Amino acid sequence: MIAIDLTGRRALVTGASGGLGQAIAEILAAAGARVAVHYRKGQAEAEQVVAAIQGKGGKAQAFQADISDPAAVEKLLQEIDGAFGGLDILVNNAGMDGPRAVVGDDDPQVWEKVLAVDLMGPYYCARAAIPRMEKCGCGVIINITSVHEFIPWEGYSAYTSAKAGLSMFTKTLAQETADKGIRVVAIAPGAIKTPINEAVWGNPDTLKDLDDKIAMERLGAPEEIGHVAAFLASDLASYITGTTIAVDGGMLIYPDFRHGG
Ligand code: BGC
Repeated sequence: MIAIDLTGRRALVTGASGGLGQAIAEILAAAGARVAVHYRKGQAEAEQVVAAIQGKGGKAQAFQADISDPAAVEKLLQEIDGAFGGLDILVNNAGMDGPRAVVGDDDPQVWEKVLAVDLMGPYYCARAAIPRMEKCGCGVIINITSVHEFIPWEGYSAYTSAKAGLSMFTKTLAQETADKGIRVVAIAPGAIKTPINEAVWGNPDTLKDLDDKIAMERLGAPEEIGHVAAFLASDLASYITGTTIAVDGGMLIYPDFRHGG
């Protein structure tokens, strides 16, 4: 039987105190990885994720850092070195979408903040991780983008720009690190049921509008991203690098074109 086996691999999942990051951390741990559960503010939540992983026999530890601060990222990686002895898998998951506002009505400082967390953060983390990953020749960096690396989204220009930037960062970094035995891949989730879009799925009218944008007519579950992350982190995905895997229930196949046109 073929199984995803991450035994002996050391992983960092950013933004793992809830939402997608939590599911990714739990599933990497279930596949055998030792997981650094990163959080910025949610210490209690991160400790709960760690306890849940340990309760199932997995290995995890919580680590705090502001990933938009390069010095804090270097300190985070040093702490992980101290606890795990190195790093093999980095999942750049932490992100924010910011308040909805069209350009002109928005706040430039918020634009900068979204870019700092969603694009600079993954860059700082990858930059710090690469020298550590070179040692094993089995390094994998997974960047969590969004269908909005492809689909424009009114009121979220910072978010869409950051995600499109993260997509091109994925490709360029994959080119730069292929000879170091490091793979760099992006996952573009569609509408996954997490706190980030609760206001939408919590209201029947906006939920229907969202479902209509998805060929499978349902939101995804966080585990459906976690399973893909575990596969991509594993040697089963040994020939995948420099590309984006959409996990979106068919959001990117223009379901509206089932009719008309
Ligand atoms: C956003 C969600 C949204 C989804 C589909 C994601 O990147 O975080 O809020 O529901 O894209 O639009």
